[in-house]
Amino acid sequence: MPVEYRLVQTAPIEPAVSAPHPYRLPRVVVPSHYRLTIEPDLSGGTFRGSVEIDAEVREPTRTILCNSLDLDIATANVTSGGRQSRATVSVIADDERIAIELATELTAGPITISMTFSGAFNEQLVGFYASTFQADGHDHVMGVTQFEAPHARRAFPCWDEPEFKATFDISIVCDASMVAISNEAERARTNLDDGRVRFDFDRTMPMSTYLVAWVIGDLTVTEGAARSASGTPVRLVHRPGQEHLTSFALDCAVHALDWFEQYYGIAYPASKLDLVAVPDFAFGAMENLGCVTFRESLLLLDADRVSRSEIERAATVIEHEIAHMWFGDLVTMKWWNGIWLNEAFATFMEMSCGDAYRPDWHVWTSFGMSKVQAFDTDALASTRPIEYEVHGPADAEGMFDILTYEKGAAVLRMIEQWIGPDAFRDGVRAYLDEFRYSNTDTADLWAALARGTGQPVGEIMDSWILQGGHPLVTVDLAGSRMKLSQQRFTFHGGDATDEPRWSIPLRVRASVAGETVEHHVLLSDTTMDLELGGEPEWVDANPDATGFFRTHYAGGAIEAHNRRLPAMEAVERFALLDDAWAALLNGSGELAPVVATIRGIAATETDASIWRRIGSAMGSLRLLGGGDHAPAVARLTRDLIGDRLTALTERIDHADLDHEAPDQASDDDRDLRGILFRLAGVVGDDGDVAAQATRWFSELLADPTSLDGSLTTAVLEVVAAQGGTAEFDQIVDLYRTATTPQDELRALGALACFDEVEPARRLCAMSLDEIRSQNAPFTLAQAMGNPGVGIDYWRFVTEHWDAMNERFPSSSIVRMVGGVRSFFDAEAVSSVQRFFDDQDIPQGRMSLSQHLERTRVNVALRARVLDEFGAALTGA
Ligand code: BES
Ligand code: ZN
Repeated sequence: MPVEYRLVQTAPIEPAVSAPHPYRLPRVVVPSHYRLTIEPDLSGGTFRGSVEIDAEVREPTRTILCNSLDLDIATANVTSGGRQSRATVSVIADDERIAIELATELTAGPITISMTFSGAFNEQLVGFYASTFQADGHDHVMGVTQFEAPHARRAFPCWDEPEFKATFDISIVCDASMVAISNEAERARTNLDDGRVRFDFDRTMPMSTYLVAWVIGDLTVTEGAARSASGTPVRLVHRPGQEHLTSFALDCAVHALDWFEQYYGIAYPASKLDLVAVPDFAFGAMENLGCVTFRESLLLLDADRVSRSEIERAATVIEHEIAHMWFGDLVTMKWWNGIWLNEAFATFMEMSCGDAYRPDWHVWTSFGMSKVQAFDTDALASTRPIEYEVHGPADAEGMFDILTYEKGAAVLRMIEQWIGPDAFRDGVRAYLDEFRYSNTDTADLWAALARGTGQPVGEIMDSWILQGGHPLVTVDLAGSRMKLSQQRFTFHGGDATDEPRWSIPLRVRASVAGETVEHHVLLSDTTMDLELGGEPEWVDANPDATGFFRTHYAGGAIEAHNRRLPAMEAVERFALLDDAWAALLNGSGELAPVVATIRGIAATETDASIWRRIGSAMGSLRLLGGGDHAPAVARLTRDLIGDRLTALTERIDHADLDHEAPDQASDDDRDLRGILFRLAGVVGDDGDVAAQATRWFSELLADPTSLDGSLTTAVLEVVAAQGGTAEFDQIVDLYRTATTPQDELRALGALACFDEVEPARRLCAMSLDEIRSQNAPFTLAQAMGNPGVGIDYWRFVTEHWDAMNERFPSSSIVRMVGGVRSFFDAEAVSSVQRFFDDQDIPQGRMSLSQHLERTRVNVALRARVLDEFGAALTGA
C-alpha cells in the first residue's frame, strides 16, 4: 500500500549560516532525495557505491559541503539547469566532510549531485561493516549498517545530520545467492550479466540519514503471514538454522505494531517491518525505519526454555524499537542534544506497551530495578543534566547512558502519572501529528502536553531535564495537615551553596475516613502544606513509586505511612528497600536498619523483582564487608532464603507432574527459583545448593537443554563461583557448542563468575580474540565484580587498554570500565583513579567521572561501617 506523505516543513531549515561550524553543515545546499546504489565485496571487506542527490541551492555558491568519512570519492558531477559540470572534491578529514567545488557559481534552484565512491568495512561495528557467523559448517560474512550516530557518512557521502530529512531510493548489488534487505519493500530483483543480482527497494518516507539501513548476506527470511491488524507484513531475518527460534519475536512485534498504531493514532509509517538478527552488534538494537537490527539474543529465543528476564528483555527491546518508528523516525530531534528524549520516550513506551502485552510480567516493577541504577548515578556530584548542549559526535555518544534511558524514562512516567495517562497520550498524538516527517526540539513535546492539560509542563520538566540530581521529599504530618519539603539528595552530603529546586509533580494518596483520595500537587518551593480534609488512616507520597525522588517520612507521618505497609504494592516495597540502601550510602542511615528492612521484606516476599533487589543488596554487602565478613553475609543470605527454595522446588516438581496445572504460577515459581538458587549458592555459600548444582551441572553437560533457562544460568554460576579450571573448560565447551543465543550468553556469563586466578587468566585471553567484541567488554565488566579476582581483571584491562580501544565498539569502553563500581578497597580504587590520570575516554567522559566518584563513595562507606559490620549483620 503506497504511503501518502504530507510534507509539512513546520520548522523551516534555517537560512545560510555564514560562519563555518565544525559539526553542523551550512544550509546553503539542502538535499531532498537520494538514489543510492551499493555494491559490497563481502569477502574482500570493501564496497563501491554511487549516489545521485537531488538538492536545492538556497544561495548562489561554488562550494557544496557535505559529510563523508573514510570514503574515496572517485567522481563528482553536478547537474544544474540541465547542464552537467565536473566538480573537484577535497577532503576535510578532521571535520568528516568533503567540499565539492565547481568552476562556476551555482544559482539558486534545484540541482543533482552525482558521485561514485568506495570504502572499506569498518572494524568497530559502525558505518557499513561485516559480521561473521557459521552455518551449515561454513563461515559466512554478512554486510550490515549502523548509522546512529553519525555514521552514515562512512557508507555514502550525505548530509549526515538528523534535520536534513530526505527520501531514499536504495539499490544493492550482491551475489546471486544472497538476500538484501533495506528500509522499504523490495520493488524489483534483477539478474545481472556478471552473475550478480540487483535489489531495488521502494522509496522511503522523508527521513534522517541515521535511520537508513541495509543488510546483505546468506540469510533466511521467515515465511508465512505475520501481519499487523492493519496489514503490515512483519518478518524476521536471521542466519540459517534458527527458524525455530523466531516465533516469540514475531508475536511480540505484531502486538507492538498494533498497540502503537492505536496508542499514537497514526498508521505505521513504512510499508513493511523487518527485524534483523545480527551476530555482531555494538548496541542492543537499532530503530532503522522498517529494517530494525538487533543482537541475536534479543530476537532469537527458544520460548520453552527461556528465562523470564531473558524473554522480558527481548520483548522490551522489540517494543522499544517499534516505539521509535513514530517517535524518532517519523518525528525526529533536530540535533543530537535531543537524543535523550528520543531514547527516554522509547524506554517509557516499551514499558507501557510491555504492560499491555503481558500484564502478568509486571514490567513496571522490573522498571524499579533500572531506576535503582539511575538513582545511583544521579546522586553523585558528577551527575549531569539529562539534556545538555551537544557540539560534536563525542558529546552525543556520551548521552547514551543510564541517565538518558532510565532517568529520562522515569521522569516521563512521573509526568504521565501526574497529568493522567489519557491526557499524556493525547498530547503525544498531537505532537506526532503536528511534526510528522519533520524535526523538533524537546520543548515542542512539552508545549503539546501543556496545551492539552493547561499544566505548566515545560516548567516542570525543565527542572528535571536541565539540572542534574534529584530531590529527597520529606513528609511530615500533624493532624490533617501534611507538610512536604524538598532538598537535593546526594551521596556526598549536603552542599548549602548548591540548592537546585525541582517542580515536583506529587501524587499524595491518603485514606481519610475510610476513603482513598489522591491529591495531585506541585511542590515547587522548598516546603508546602497540604490539607487532607481529615486525619488520615495512612498516607503515601509516592504511590506506585512513580516519582523520581526519594521519600523520607518524619514525625507523625512515620506511623501513618507504616499503616500503609501491609497493603503496599511490590514496586513500593522495592522503593522502601532502595531508599534505605541510599540512606546508608549517603551517610544519613546506618547499616543495621538496612539489614532490618531487608529482613522485614524478605520474610514474606514472593515477588521476583524484589528478590533480585535483595540479591543485589546482599552482593553489595559481600563486597562491602570484604573477605573477613563473607561468612556472615553468607549466613544472613541463607537465613533470608530459609526453606523457600525447597518449597519452590517441590511446587515446581508437582506442577511438572500435573500437566494440567496452569503454567503461569509455575512460570513465576521458576523465575524465583533461579534467582534464589543463585543467591544461595553464590552469596549464601550454601553447601546443599552447591551439591545440587554439581548434580545438575552433569546433567547439563550431557544435555544442555535439560534445565529451564533460569535454572541453567543459576546452576552454571554456582558451579563457576566454586569451581576451578576443570569446570572452566567444561563451561567453555558449553559456550562453544551452544545452540541458542541464550545458552551462549548463559555460559559466557558463568565464565565471568570464576573467582580464581587461572580461570580469570584464561577468560582474559579469550576476551581479546574468541569472544565477540560485542560481548567481551561486558563480560570483563561483570568479571570485575568478583570479590577475589575482580582486581585482576581490572589490571588486565589496563595492560591491554590500547588493544581494547581498537577492538571493542567505542560506546562499550566506558561501560566496561563501569565494572570498577564493584570496588570497595581503597588501594584498588586509587589505582583506578591513577590510571585515568593519563588516560581518557573522550566519548564517555562524564560516565567515567561518575564511575570514579562512585568508587570513592564505596571507599567512604566501607570506612564508615566496617567496624560495626559484623554486629549490624547479626543484629547483635
Ligand atoms: N537508538 C538506540 C541505539 C543507539 C543509541 C545507537 C545511541 C547509537 C547511539 C536504540 O533505540 C536503543 O535504544 N537501543 C538500546 C536498547 C534499548 C531497548 C534500551 C541499546 O542498544 O542498548
Ligand atoms: Zn532507543
